[in-house]
Amino acid sequence: PKRSTKPQEGDKLAFMLGEKEGKEILPSDLKIGAEPTLAYPLDPATGKALVAKASLLVVVRLKPEDLKPGSAKNAADGGVVAFSSMCTHYGCPITTLHPNGTQVVCNCHGSVFNAADRGVVTNGPATRRLAMLPLELKDGAIVVKGKFDGPLGPPT
Ligand code: FES
Repeated sequence: PKRSTKPQEGDKLAFMLGEKEGKEILPSDLKIGAEPTLAYPLDPATGKALVAKASLLVVVRLKPEDLKPGSAKNAADGGVVAFSSMCTHYGCPITTLHPNGTQVVCNCHGSVFNAADRGVVTNGPATRRLAMLPLELKDGAIVVKGKFDGPLGPPT
């Protein structure tokens, strides 16, 4: 049977865009202060990206010292964190790093979410935090450690 496109434990991450589209994201691909990387889960069984709006992730590397405990426990390689990229306001993809370097911004209506603190809303109109996807470093690879820790997208 075909597996679900939802990220699950043991998945790696794949680039959504660019010349490495579909390829595995390595720890060295993620730099502190760089714009977020949009990613899909990568099924280790097939080596293929699991492409679906609900599985799209926004991935950033933060400075380890900036992470609050709620984000630190789900980070890989010290500071790499991943969230559902579906904005909890109207579902636009979240693509931009805030100039403060620790928050991510939805460009549709300007909601801001704190990547250093479990994706909590720091500026509306969104009212619900982003779901965080736990990651870990395993044999030098970034690997999904569990399920999203909350609901995805706008409240229904
Ligand atoms: Fe993101 Fe409105 S959809 S702020």
